[in-house]
Amino acid sequence: MAQVKLIVSNWKMNLNFVQAKVLVEKLKKIKSKDSSIINIICPQFLLLPLVSNLIKESKLILGAQDCHYYTHGAFTGDTSIELIKKIGCKYIIAGHSERRQYHFETDKIIRQKVDMILFERLKPIICVGESANDRKNKNYLNILKQQLKQCVPSDLDEIIIAYEPVWSIGSGLIPKVEEIKEVKDFINKFIKNSKNIEKVTFLYGGSVSSQNLGEIFKYSQVDGALIGGSSLKIEEMNKILTLG
Ligand code: 13P
Repeated sequence: MAQVKLIVSNWKMNLNFVQAKVLVEKLKKIKSKDSSIINIICPQFLLLPLVSNLIKESKLILGAQDCHYYTHGAFTGDTSIELIKKIGCKYIIAGHSERRQYHFETDKIIRQKVDMILFERLKPIICVGESANDRKNKNYLNILKQQLKQCVPSDLDEIIIAYEPVWSIGSGLIPKVEEIKEVKDFINKFIKNSKNIEKVTFLYGGSVSSQNLGEIFKYSQVDGALIGGSSLKIEEMNKILTLG
C-alpha cells in the first residue's frame, strides 16, 4: 500500500455558509486515485457545525484551526476544545504563524495547547517555520530547533509537524525541494533524538499548488501538505487529490 499522505485544507478566515457548502459537496465527489490520502478540512469555527453535518458518511475529516489551552473559563472570544471535539474535529492546528503574529502566541502558549489537544486525545498539527531573515542569515535550523524544543512534548508514539516557512505563506515563493528535504531530515532527527518520538509525520505548507506539490512529494518525500489559498479552489483540490 502507498504511504499514507495527509492533505490538510486550512481555509483560514474564508468562505461563507453557501460557499463552504458548495465546496464541500464538490470535495465529496472527488475520487482520489490514492486510497491512502487522508483529506482533512479545517474551516473557521462558525462553519464547523455545517461542515461536520455535510461530511457525515464521507471520507472527509474535520479539523479546527485553533483551540484554547483550558477547557472552559473566563476567556472572552476563545473556543473550548470540548466543543471542538463534540462537533467532530479529529485534528487541531496549533501554532500557525498567523496566530503567532496576530495573536502573539508564544512557543509556551502553543505547548499548552498541544498538551491539551493530546490530553483530549485529538491530534495536534504543530506548525513551525522561519522568517525570511532567518533563512537569509542561515539561522533557520536554529529557529526551528527552538520552536520544536518548546512546542513538542516528549515520549509520544507519533507527532505531526507542519513546516511552513513564514516567507512562503501566501507569497507564491517556495523553498527548493532539497531545502524542504533538509528541514524534514533535520526535524525527524531532532524529534527522534531529543523527544523520544518514533514517528514524525512531516507536512509542508506555504504556497502549495497542484503545480508544485507533485515535485515536493517526489523529491522531498514529505508525508503531506498544509494548504491555504489552493484549498479554497475546487479545481486545485481536484488536481491535488488525484496526483500520482
Ligand atoms: P498558502 O497555501 O495560502 O500559502 O497558506 C499556507 C498556510 O498558511 C497553510 O496553513
